[in-house]
Amino acid sequence: MNRLHEKVVLITGANRGMGHTAAKLLAQEGALVIATDINDSGLEELSGMGIDSRILDVTSEDAWRDTVEAIVKKYGRLDVLVNNAGIVHVADPVTFDLNEWRQMCAVNVEGTMLGCKYALPVMSEQGAGSIVNIASISAHTGLYFYSGYCASKGAVAAYTRAVAVYCAQNQLGIRCNSISPGGIDTKINEDLAEQFAQRLASMKVPPQSPVSADGPQMRMGEHEDIGWAIVYLASDESKFMNGSDIRIDNSSSITAAAVA
Ligand SMILES: NC(=O)c1ccc[n+]([C@@H]2O[C@H](COP(=O)([O-])OP(=O)(O)OC[C@H]3O[C@@H](n4cnc5c(N)ncnc54)[C@H](O)[C@@H]3O)[C@@H](O)[C@H]2O)c1
Repeated sequence: MNRLHEKVVLITGANRGMGHTAAKLLAQEGALVIATDINDSGLEELSGMGIDSRILDVTSEDAWRDTVEAIVKKYGRLDVLVNNAGIVHVADPVTFDLNEWRQMCAVNVEGTMLGCKYALPVMSEQGAGSIVNIASISAHTGLYFYSGYCASKGAVAAYTRAVAVYCAQNQLGIRCNSISPGGIDTKINEDLAEQFAQRLASMKVPPQSPVSADGPQMRMGEHEDIGWAIVYLASDESKFMNGSDIRIDNSSSITAAAVA
């Protein structure tokens, strides 16, 4: 309890999934959480628990500017930014739809970049802050149906390192780290199972994937497995971590076998 006493935390993609759970864990640890998302049905539940919430489409630079300004006006500071919002489109490299690729990169990569762009000046002024970017094991492995997702999350991981070095070399007191989850049991994977069903039939060798049309192929993690790592990186317990990536995947990214 109180690992984040009165830290002001902005989290994106908190309407559902691991962002939603993380918002609750952050608040449980004493943070003043601003939970944001492009959708609001799940945000209402968080508001009912006393968590501040607001709509934020992470692809909109104007929305980022307004959101960070509003937070500073209300709370006087921004201690932690969690860039969690993300989407997935699956397709092999030859059939990837360019619009879907761009949409995915807009949310996953540009959304993360814009969050850092607007949080960094506020945190610099304070001389302290922690940024947590949600990457994926797709940043470290090659999953051909996830070609665009691999590219977008690889960019998130690489960008995280660059921001960390920028902060360290300018002695800003800000840390920037990423988390690379493996398959976590959220709706994003339920949606994927449908997309896979349309494509599996055409493949010579079915891809290794956490999900298939028949359901999970390997043990999935729980929302809290990522949520507690977010709490750790948000807290001062991780004060010597900067530019790191934490893989949380039950070893699935370092083995050729499906992990049961
Ligand atoms: N679930 C997994 O297996 C897994 C594995 C690795 C990484 N991730 C990453 O974890 C993060 C959370 O994923 P999840 O599994 O909880 O998925 P999810 O689909 O349950 O939640 C994602 C949230 O992002 C929101 N979102 C989408 N577009 C947005 C936008 N433009 N602006 C603001 N919010 C937007 C959605 O409304 C949703 O609430 C994502 O970045 C995802 O890529 C998930």
